[in-house]
Amino acid sequence: MSENNETNSRSTDDSASCETSRRGFLKTGTAASTVAAVGFGTPSLSLARSANAAGRDTIKLGLIGGGGRGTGASIQAMNTQSGNNVELHAIADVFENRADLAIEQCTSEHEGKVKVNADSKFIGLDGYKRVLDSDVDLVILATPPGFRPLHFEKAIDAGKHVFMEKPVAVDAPGIRRVLAAGEKAREKKLMVQVGLQRRHEPIYKDTIKQLQDGIIGDLLVSRVYWNNNGVWNRPRSPEDNELQYQLRNWYYFNWLCGDHIVEQHIHNLDVINWLMQGHPTKAQGQGGRLVRTGSKNGEIYDHHAVEYTYENGHKMFSFCRHMPKCWSAVTEFVHGSNGWAHLSEGTIYDKDNNVIFQAEFDKKKKHDGHQQEHHDLFASIEAGEYVNEAEYGANSTFTAIFGRLATYTGKEINWDECLAKGPSLANVDEMTSFDAVAPVQPKADGSYAIPTPGADASKLLGFEKKAPPRKKGKGKGKGKGRGNGKGKAKG
Ligand SMILES: NC(=O)c1ccc[n+]([C@@H]2O[C@H](COP(=O)([O-])OP(=O)(O)OC[C@H]3O[C@@H](n4cnc5c(N)ncnc54)[C@H](O)[C@@H]3O)[C@@H](O)[C@H]2O)c1
Repeated sequence: MSENNETNSRSTDDSASCETSRRGFLKTGTAASTVAAVGFGTPSLSLARSANAAGRDTIKLGLIGGGGRGTGASIQAMNTQSGNNVELHAIADVFENRADLAIEQCTSEHEGKVKVNADSKFIGLDGYKRVLDSDVDLVILATPPGFRPLHFEKAIDAGKHVFMEKPVAVDAPGIRRVLAAGEKAREKKLMVQVGLQRRHEPIYKDTIKQLQDGIIGDLLVSRVYWNNNGVWNRPRSPEDNELQYQLRNWYYFNWLCGDHIVEQHIHNLDVINWLMQGHPTKAQGQGGRLVRTGSKNGEIYDHHAVEYTYENGHKMFSFCRHMPKCWSAVTEFVHGSNGWAHLSEGTIYDKDNNVIFQAEFDKKKKHDGHQQEHHDLFASIEAGEYVNEAEYGANSTFTAIFGRLATYTGKEINWDECLAKGPSLANVDEMTSFDAVAPVQPKADGSYAIPTPGADASKLLGFEKKAPPRKKGKGKGKGKGRGNGKGKAKG
C-alpha cells in the first residue's frame, strides 16, 4: 500500500472539515470552541501561530537529544507533506558538538526550515527545560531512554505535543511515570507518538489484521528475534569524568539504555503485543555475556532468551543476541492452529506451507516506518484526529524490561508485581550538571558489576522472590528424588 493510500484511509472524509480541524489544532490556545469541535487542545497550550505566504500554518519543533535518531526524526518531521509547515526552532543536547551536528544535518536537508540560533540551542543536562520553556509546539524526545520519563512528564506539564523515541523508560518507576503522563496528555489532548515505527508500516498493519481476523485460527506461539552484530562503542576521552563517559557510551549502562533487549528487541516484542492486543503476564529466561565482555561494554549482557506467557496462554519465545559472525535475524513469526506467518515479510502460510496471504508493499518503502510515522502524525494533526501511543509504548517497553528482569534474575516472574514494585535505576531528576555522581561506578579494575542470575534477584526486582514450596519428601538430603546424589533415582 502506498503512503497516499495510507493517508487516504484516515477517517476524515471531507477536505473542508480537514482544514477546520487543522486550524483548530493550531489555534488551540485561543479558539476553545473550534477546539471542542475537533477534540483538541487545552486553554493552557500556548501556540503562537503564523500562516506563511502559501497559507500554511507553522508547527514549531523542539528537539531534545540531537544524536542520530533525533536528527533523523527532525528531518522526517520536516519532510512531511501535510498542510502544515514544520520547522525546527530549538534544540537541547548535553554535548555541544552533537547539537551542532544535528543543526548542520537538519539544515543541509531543510535549509529554510531550521530556525535554531544561539538563543535557542541549549547545552547541558537541564537544557531540556529551556526547550520546554520556549514557544515550540511539539517536542521530539530522542535522548537515551533513561531520561525519557522525566522529559515526557515535563513536556506534558509544559503543554507540548510529543514525539518520543522508544524505549520510553528503563525501569518500572519510569514506566509508571510514563503511563501517568500519558493519561495527563489525554486529558490535555496533547498528541503523543512513540517511535515504534512498525505500527505505521502497511506491511505489518495488513498482516496483523489478517491474523487478528483469524486467517490461521488460534494464535498459539510466536518467535521473535533481534540477533545481529551489535552497535557502536564510544571510547572514554581523557577529559570525561565518569558521568560524561557514561552519557557518551550510554548503550552499555542500564540506567541510560536498559540493556539491548530493551533498546532494540522492544521492536519485535511490540509486534507480538500488538498482534495479541495485550502484554505478557509471566516470564522466565536466561542470558549473559560471552563475547562482548570487558569494561568498555559496561554492565549489559550480550544475549537473552525469554519465554513469555500471555494471559490467554500464548507463548512468545524471544531471542536477542549481539554477537558478530553468528546467525543474524531481526524478525517475527507466529504459529496458529491452521498455519503460520512471517510478519516482517507480510507472508501467511497454511499448515502445508502454501502462501494464503501476501501483504502488498512498495519495495522501496517496505520498512520505511520512520518516515511513515511522521507522515501519520502530521496528517493526524491536520485532520484533527487525536493520537496517543503512550500506553502501548509503555507496555511494550515494560515487556522488554520484564524480559531483562527474567534473564538477570533467573526467576519466573509476574508482570503486576514487577511493575508495581520494581526499583529505580537512577534519580535523573537530580542530575542537573556533570558534577552529579554517575549512578553506577566502576570497580577498582575498571570493570562494572554484571548481574548474576540466581544471586541478585531481590535487589533487581525490588522485592523478595520466595522459592516455590517444596513438595513433601523432596527436602534437601532427605528425599529420594533425583539430584541430591543420595537417593536412588527412578527411571
Ligand atoms: N525507532 C528506531 O528505530 C530508533 C533507531 C535509532 C535510535 N532510536 C532511539 O533513539 C534514542 C536515541 O538514540 P540515538 O541512536 O540517536 O543515540 P545517540 O547517542 O546518537 O543520540 C542521543 C543524543 O542524546 C544526547 N543526550 C544524552 N542525554 C541527554 C540529556 N539528558 N539531555 C539532552 N540530550 C541528551 C546525547 O548527547 C546524544 O546526542 C534511543 O532511545 C534509541 O533507542 C530509535
